[in-house]
Amino acid sequence: MTSTTNAPAAAPQPGPFDAVMDITPRPPLVFVAGRGSWLTDSEGRRYLDFIQGWAVNCLGHSPRPILDALARQAERLINCSPAFYNDQMIRLSDLLSRHSGLHQVFLANSGAEANEGAIKLARKWGTKYRDGAYEVITMDHGFHGRTLATMSASGKAQWEQLYEPKVAGFVKVLLNDLPAVEAAMTPRTVAVMLEPIQGEAGVFEATAFFLRDLRALTRDRGVLLILDEIQTGIGRTGRLFGFEHAGITPDIMTLAKGLGGGVPLAALVAHQDVCCFDYGDQGGTFCGNPLMAAVGCAVIEEVTKPGFLARVVQAGGYFGDRLHMLSGKRGCGEVRGQGLLLALDLKRDIASQVADLARTRGLLINAPRPDSLRFMPALTVTDEEIDQMIDVLDGVLGDIARG
Ligand SMILES: Cc1ncc(COP(=O)(O)O)c(C=O)c1O
Repeated sequence: MTSTTNAPAAAPQPGPFDAVMDITPRPPLVFVAGRGSWLTDSEGRRYLDFIQGWAVNCLGHSPRPILDALARQAERLINCSPAFYNDQMIRLSDLLSRHSGLHQVFLANSGAEANEGAIKLARKWGTKYRDGAYEVITMDHGFHGRTLATMSASGKAQWEQLYEPKVAGFVKVLLNDLPAVEAAMTPRTVAVMLEPIQGEAGVFEATAFFLRDLRALTRDRGVLLILDEIQTGIGRTGRLFGFEHAGITPDIMTLAKGLGGGVPLAALVAHQDVCCFDYGDQGGTFCGNPLMAAVGCAVIEEVTKPGFLARVVQAGGYFGDRLHMLSGKRGCGEVRGQGLLLALDLKRDIASQVADLARTRGLLINAPRPDSLRFMPALTVTDEEIDQMIDVLDGVLGDIARG
């Protein structure tokens, strides 16, 4: 007879999510399908998606141009090694340089990788042409990715003590504070790097005045201007690139998110005078693969079609007006942002509660700060979907106010 007391404890049943590394508090939902502004979970529930993979799915979920590009290119060629040219790499590089006014493109797989490349390119340029200058001035509250160097470049307070020691050579100043940038410049300074709109920080814009003055200052001092357009690029603000609003051109720009419309694709785009990598300095197995590059071409062709960006401006204006009205009705604060990258100041630390309750009612929105909501719908969002989103949010804010 076996003693029950000595019997080995029954092994706990594996949970459905156990094999997925636990790196963020995910709700217990499993998404299985998406189309346009809508996602469907494994229980068949539908959600109006105003996160869109964190501003990634610029054409919405599974849009026809991306489906076609993937199917067509997968039949032809998926990867032929970055050591060879391929036609899609050439086509996308041409499109990006033609539309940006910059000259050369290195294709990568994530925003952090593109930014890491931008920092390396600036340091290489500093070594070659600026007596070894290497420091990059970045902005408090800025966000540039999750590699060690891009975390070091970011100005996220929660990361200050994380993964020490940080990569050296980053000096932080406040956004829109030109005297602070000037004061931080030394003979070691090689570049200033920033987002035209700080997205992860909660949607805070660099003013057009600041960007223009910064462009003049960096030119005057022989320092590179790097714009991280990973969130603001590819039509998100109503122009193809955020810097167009200020009428400037950076020396280096990075793109990701919308460029791939949902697939992993990023780009480091630079002025010809800065392109100084020697062979072997930069690369990556998947960089410039034709499958992803074909998607990037399809996205750019779609976003630059006549009327596309005008519609983003119109939708952004309509959305902003509706948010202002809601803010007035529910005692919230300012509406920040441009185009279809918008935030609402709730004036109270209820943003997570709002996002959680909205999700139970079929609406996905993001809370980048305790007191703010961020909205990053598909650039193809309709006025009706904006109305639906406002109605759900209105109900959620009303219910929270009533306790
Ligand atoms: C401005 C900015 N830069 C860089 C990144 C990092 O991009 P990725 O997550 O593709 O590495 C992000 C991501 O949110 C971003 O918003």
